[in-house]
Amino acid sequence: MTDVAVLVGSLRRDSINRKLAVALGKLAAPRLNFRIVDLSDVPMYNDDLIQNLPEPVARMKREIETADAVMFVTPEYNRSFPAVLKNAIDWGTRPYGKNSFSAKPGGLVGTSPGATGTAAGQNHLKGVLNVVDVVLMGQPEVYLTWKADDFAEDGTVRNDHTREFLQRYIERFVKWIERTSEPKTTAQADANGTN
Ligand SMILES: Cc1cc2nc3c(=O)[nH]c(=O)nc-3n(C[C@H](O)[C@H](O)[C@H](O)COP(=O)(O)O)c2cc1C
Repeated sequence: MTDVAVLVGSLRRDSINRKLAVALGKLAAPRLNFRIVDLSDVPMYNDDLIQNLPEPVARMKREIETADAVMFVTPEYNRSFPAVLKNAIDWGTRPYGKNSFSAKPGGLVGTSPGATGTAAGQNHLKGVLNVVDVVLMGQPEVYLTWKADDFAEDGTVRNDHTREFLQRYIERFVKWIERTSEPKTTAQADANGTN
């Protein structure tokens, strides 16, 4: 199975972006295994901690590195993306030369109750993901205006139109991962239990 490390830019218990991540994971199974990476205990980036990485940072980096792809699910904060994600990305790229995101196929989606559905926030994040060497899928774009009734508690998408739209996104993402993946090293395959 193809492992996808999912980074959600909200720590809130009732996060609509987390719900979107769960819904996408449900549509993607069994071909993709969506693993939401816990970012709640990752400290703010501090270069002084680099020599002895805090355990939550080491764990987060490991979870990204052992995945076949990464998926970013972002809220929009003040027309940008939240600090939670920027912090995770900054840690991911350090120590220098140990970029956890290097050459990973990536996806980016987001939802907001607002009409523009995180478009401005995602556009800021795209620029950063490009720099940190995520091989980002450009289309389709998912700027979802959140409607609570469209999603059941277990992640089932109730609205047919939304479900078909998200399913098309997943189909494209599966192909994107196949097309853009670099051959795995033995160490990566070992870590994934596939060697
Ligand atoms: C600090 C802050 C800034 C926000 N700025 C925006 C914004 O620029 N655009 C927008 O559509 N919603 C904005 N919102 C509202 C969020 O879209 C809304 O709180 C959403 O539920 C956050 O996602 P989450 O439920 O996954 O945490 C903002 C919310 C917060 C807390």
